[in-house]
Amino acid sequence: MKKITVVGSGTMGNGIAHTFAQFGHEVNLVDVSDNALSKALGTINKNLDRQVAKGTITEADKSNTLANITIFTDLKNGVADADLVIEAASENLDLKLKIFKDLDAFTKPEAILASNTSSISITRIAAVTGRGDKVIGMHFMNPVPVMKLVEVIRGYASSDETTNKIMELSAKLDKVPVAVNDYPGFVANRILMPMINEAIFTLHEGVAGVEEIDTVMKLGMAHPMGPLQLADFIGLDVCLAILRVLHDGFGNPKYAPCPLLVNMVMAGNKGVKSGEGFYNYANGVKEATVAKKFS
Ligand SMILES: NC(=O)c1ccc[n+]([C@@H]2O[C@H](COP(=O)([O-])OP(=O)(O)OC[C@H]3O[C@@H](n4cnc5c(N)ncnc54)[C@H](O)[C@@H]3O)[C@@H](O)[C@H]2O)c1
Repeated sequence: MKKITVVGSGTMGNGIAHTFAQFGHEVNLVDVSDNALSKALGTINKNLDRQVAKGTITEADKSNTLANITIFTDLKNGVADADLVIEAASENLDLKLKIFKDLDAFTKPEAILASNTSSISITRIAAVTGRGDKVIGMHFMNPVPVMKLVEVIRGYASSDETTNKIMELSAKLDKVPVAVNDYPGFVANRILMPMINEAIFTLHEGVAGVEEIDTVMKLGMAHPMGPLQLADFIGLDVCLAILRVLHDGFGNPKYAPCPLLVNMVMAGNKGVKSGEGFYNYANGVKEATVAKKFS
């Protein structure tokens, strides 16, 4: 699997493209937005500089990685010769169904189609294609070049052959793949999102402030960052979308999103990517602004 196409060049797409390109794959990076593509190339460049400064890669590795990436705004051109497509577009069911219908039409019949979705059913996505056996979840973690895990999600129709190929490929990227079955939230988000939601309820009910909640979980549970800051990094819109999938998928009220999270997303406060979430990231200042509203 030499030629890889990544669809969507946001937070995850740029990291996935970076990782495959660093390991010698030819990568086509596709996005509907020119602006997102140039931002993605800037981010990849900056992250490669960081790796060079740390001594984990050389200047030559950096140039080779950048040379392996080509950008496209047209999906059909971007996937024409791909052996594997990894979709990392926005977390929206209708959008993903449309993209996979197009991928089925535009790619080689033997190409594997993967989604980096955090929570949408791989089985449902696969059903709009004529190659369910070759559709699979490849759930990378943020930041992709750093995080070791790839949660490999087997849809109802995913074949053993497809699963084995994706497990082997992930290991070659120096990642640790774990195969799981396709149920709402898979494993990672089924466990993580209720914790984040509970942290938001704890804030909403005035039990403690943003910094206090994050400090308890960092120092008390040895988490590298608190759940509210993690939610800001993931994107509050993404967290809300995942909670809705869990809520709908299991029909259990324990997954109902906290009204504070719903309000923040409606107000456009999506976390790091919008400059403000539970913390304010404007001008590089991290300040728990929401905390003030509840003190
Ligand atoms: N953010 C995380 O920490 C995280 C972690 C794991 C998985 N995911 C999943 O990865 C996917 C992407 O999330 P993200 O955080 O990178 O989102 P994002 O909002 O940062 O980026 C999404 C990108 O998709 C592009 N896009 C929208 N429609 C498109 C289309 N039709 N064709 C091509 N590109 C299109 C947008 O222009 C944008 O650049 C989602 O499914 C999300 O659930 C996110």
